[in-house]
Amino acid sequence: MATALAIETSCDETAVAIVKNRQVLANVVSSQIALHQPYGGIVPEVASRGHVETINETIAQALIESNLGWSEIDAIAATAAPGLVGALLVGLTAGKTLAMLRQKPFLGIHHLEGHICASYLTEPTLQPPFLCLLVSGGHTSLIAVREAGRYETIGQTRDDAAGEAFDKVARLMGLGYPGGPAIDRLAAEGNPQAFKLPEGRVSLPEGGFHPYDCSFSGLKTAVSRLIQTLRSESAELPLADLAASFQGAVVKALTKRAIAAAQDFGFSTIAVGGGVAANRGLRSTLAAAAEPLGIRVLFPPMKFCTDNAAMIACAAVEHFERDRQSPLSVAAQSRMGLEQVLDLYPEVKPRPVTPWVASDWRPPC
Ligand code: KG4
Ligand code: ZN
Repeated sequence: MATALAIETSCDETAVAIVKNRQVLANVVSSQIALHQPYGGIVPEVASRGHVETINETIAQALIESNLGWSEIDAIAATAAPGLVGALLVGLTAGKTLAMLRQKPFLGIHHLEGHICASYLTEPTLQPPFLCLLVSGGHTSLIAVREAGRYETIGQTRDDAAGEAFDKVARLMGLGYPGGPAIDRLAAEGNPQAFKLPEGRVSLPEGGFHPYDCSFSGLKTAVSRLIQTLRSESAELPLADLAASFQGAVVKALTKRAIAAAQDFGFSTIAVGGGVAANRGLRSTLAAAAEPLGIRVLFPPMKFCTDNAAMIACAAVEHFERDRQSPLSVAAQSRMGLEQVLDLYPEVKPRPVTPWVASDWRPPC
C-alpha cells in the first residue's frame, strides 16, 4: 500500500494531493479562474505566475490535511505532460526538489492518465480492461485501458475538444469563462430540440462515417451562424434553448461513439474522465443508453472530473507499485500521446562511479 504526494499544475489549477493506495488523504485545489476571467480564457504567463505564488502554500495545506509526516510518504509525483510548459515546469520543479530534499523516488505523470485513474478513487476495485471516455478542455478521446501504462486510442476528435467547444460556444453566447458549467446550468432550463445542429460526423475516404471519431468545429460554426441569424431577428437571444440544443448535440455525439466502441471492443465498463464528465446532460444520457445494454458507466464526482492532484497521485501509486520511477531529468512536455506514458519511466541503470581524487586535478594550463 503505497502513499504518494502529487502536484498538478498543467493548466489553471494549482493542486496538491496525497493518496494512499486508492484512498484520498488530502486534496487541495487552488483555482486560478478569477485570474483568467478578465481575459476570457487562460493566459499561459499568468498561469505560471499564479502557480509560483501558490504552490508552497498548497503543498503545506495538503500535508496538514493528510495528518502525515514526510516519513509516511513513499513517493513524490508531478504532472510532466501534456500541458502549458511554463505551468507544468512550476509543479515539476517543486516535485523534483521535494524528492531530492526528502530523498524519495520521483514520478513524472501524464495528465490524461490522471483523468483515467480518477475513476479508481471512487471505484477502488476497478481494474483494466475498461474503456475510458476522456472529455476535457484539451482532449476528447476513447481510450482502451489495457493495464497501467498501456493505452490505445480508439477514437478522438479531429479538431476541437468537447470542453473547448463548450468554452467557445459560451463565449459566442456571452457567458464568459469557463463556459462548460454555464452552458450546463442554462441547458437544464432549455429545450434541446429547439434548434437542429450537426452531430459532427467524420467522413471516411472510402465512404460512410468513422464510428468513433468526431468533430466539433462544424458544430461551433453552426452555432455561430445561428446566433448571427437570431441576433438579426431579435435583440434577446434564447440562451437556454441555444445551450440545451448545443449541449444535446455534443452529448449525442459522445454517447453514440462511446457505446459503439464499448460494444465493438467488448468492454463492459466505461469510465468517464475530464472536466466535461461533470456535465449533467452527459451523465444522464450516457448512463441511460448504457444501462439496457448491461454496460456499467462510472462518473467520478465533480471534484475529480476537473483538474486535481488526487488523480495524479492515484496514477503515481499504480506505477510506483510496479517499481517504476522517473529520472530527475524528466522534462515538461506540452504534447505527449498516451501511448508514450511508459517513456516517463525508463529503466534506470546504475552508472559506474569513478572515484574522483583531488590530487588528480590539474589546472587547465
Ligand atoms: O479536465 P479539465 O478540468 O481541464 C483540462 O485538462 O482541459 O477540463 C476543463 C474543461 C473546460 O473546457 C470546461 O468548460 C469543461 O471542462 N467543463 C464542463 C463542465 N465543467 C467543466 N463542460 C461541460 N459541462 C460541465 N459541467
Ligand atoms: Zn485535465
